[in-house]
Amino acid sequence: MKEQLKIRNLNLKNRIFLAPMHQVNDAAFRLLCKKAGATLTYTGLTNPQTHEKLLFNDKPAIQFACNSPKSIKEFIKKYDKKIELYDFNLGCPSPHAKQSHLGYFMISNYEIIEEILKTIRQNTKKPLTIKIRKMPDEQLKKILSIAEEYCDAISVHPRTQQQGYSGMPDLEFARRVKQQTRLPIIYSGNINNCEQAEKMLQEFDFIMVGRSAIGNPSIFSDLLGKKIKKKLNFYDWLKLAKKIQKDNLNFSQIKFQALNFTRDFEGAPEIRHKLSLTKNEEEILDILKINFN
Ligand SMILES: Cc1cc2nc3c(=O)[nH]c(=O)nc-3n(C[C@H](O)[C@H](O)[C@H](O)COP(=O)(O)O)c2cc1C
Repeated sequence: MKEQLKIRNLNLKNRIFLAPMHQVNDAAFRLLCKKAGATLTYTGLTNPQTHEKLLFNDKPAIQFACNSPKSIKEFIKKYDKKIELYDFNLGCPSPHAKQSHLGYFMISNYEIIEEILKTIRQNTKKPLTIKIRKMPDEQLKKILSIAEEYCDAISVHPRTQQQGYSGMPDLEFARRVKQQTRLPIIYSGNINNCEQAEKMLQEFDFIMVGRSAIGNPSIFSDLLGKKIKKKLNFYDWLKLAKKIQKDNLNFSQIKFQALNFTRDFEGAPEIRHKLSLTKNEEEILDILKINFN
């Protein structure tokens, strides 16, 4: 397959992205993934009506989760220069999404989907994509036809809503989507090593890496065959997070990332148990200094 290193007007250095991940993909984490080689990094689900202070120093791809076009125009006006690409989530399987009629639970609301994509399209020249998961053919057909009108690519995570983020992805479903649309496909699901990455890049235009990047941004260097001096670690994250977020960095995010970055440590269960009991940053650093020195 001929390499396509562009989505709309966005030039890309390679075909490997960081998948959207709620809470995991803070600005510092996204920057580390970019440093390791990911050419595009996504935020997690973001409601365009949010009043939260959003940090986009790293020019991420933003992922919207909403069920009306309300506030989209204002959001784009405020942030457009800091955003690389817009994605609209149609795959979130969570109980919260179900309760709020978002993500996977709005896949039959074609009119609203179209209204939202049209609003984004009318207000930005940046690329626009949707992210879908495995769904019945009836909805897929309709959603693809809407996407063809407004979008520049489609991310496909071929697991069912019931599967959530685990179990085997259905490669046949992703292949069917590829066959049924002229839009480039960004494949998501179980990409953990070079062999998997190469295999998926033969069939699809781009790939995105989710869980195997958690606590391990250096996976992008591995997948790209880039030599690195040292694996990026929790201290690299903390230093960047402090620089970017200054006094707004909250302890629960520090603890969350400390737990992520120690997943594969020798003696991980014990270390992570200790980390889970910490009440401040000093306690975390105290536990980790033994492991990083
Ligand atoms: C902790 C976590 C949070 C996630 N949050 C989001 C999200 O906010 N939006 C989204 O589209 N997908 C989300 N996903 C799904 C991933 O983007 C990805 O499609 C999925 O994990 C499959 O890829 P993987 O097998 O490489 O993890 C999340 C997955 C995980 C594990």
